[in-house]
Amino acid sequence: MKKRTVHIAPSLLAADFSQLKLEVNRVASLGATYLHYDVMDGHFVPNISFGVPIVAALSKTPGLVHDVHLMIKNPQNFIEAFVKAGANIITFHYEALDSDAKRFQLIQTIKRHKVKVGMCIKPLTEVDQLLPFLNDLDVALIMSVEPGFGGQLFLKNAIDKIAFLRKEIDQRKIPCLIEVDGGINHLTAPLCTQAGVDILVAGSYLFNQQDMPKRYAALLKS
Ligand code: DX5
Ligand code: ZN
Repeated sequence: MKKRTVHIAPSLLAADFSQLKLEVNRVASLGATYLHYDVMDGHFVPNISFGVPIVAALSKTPGLVHDVHLMIKNPQNFIEAFVKAGANIITFHYEALDSDAKRFQLIQTIKRHKVKVGMCIKPLTEVDQLLPFLNDLDVALIMSVEPGFGGQLFLKNAIDKIAFLRKEIDQRKIPCLIEVDGGINHLTAPLCTQAGVDILVAGSYLFNQQDMPKRYAALLKS
């Protein structure tokens, strides 16, 4: 498959929380154009991370696309708050809502706020569940780990999902970007780019590592 331009979205979940602003500047200086925020509520996933105030504090950093991944129940109740906090992309989970009508409604709500909209599927959700929504999405996010924690091993079934979406998106000639999240490193990134991914989320591979610039460059080369 053809090699494409790939964007890196460093995931703050793995950053040093005692110096978040510095961490953001660090990845921005490496040329990162996206910044990935993992919002967890302790209900949709068995972990709590951070929420609106952190996005609000860091979204003022210019030159970055502030990419908010909501791993929360009732995402519809928090859209306005994250828009006000400065999110540029808001991605919600397919599994967080129980009907396609509600999913379509939430896509429209996010779009009405002039913010990009993404939908995410967990590893056990079939990729074809995304098909009815693709034309309306800016981003389709494929989880390559069970959401909730950084530092997990990449699940290879993400590769087939990416390749399937790449074909579908190219056939339809629609602008939806494909993003992959979880277990991304120098070995798994090339598998995803070859399958046709547009955005690689990377947390523990990049943050709290002495050779972050070298690692960032390795992802870019994938
Ligand atoms: C997992 C999060 C990921 C996570 C990725 O629930 O959505 O964004 O931070 O972390 P790594 O890159 O460490 O697998
Ligand atoms: Zn994420």
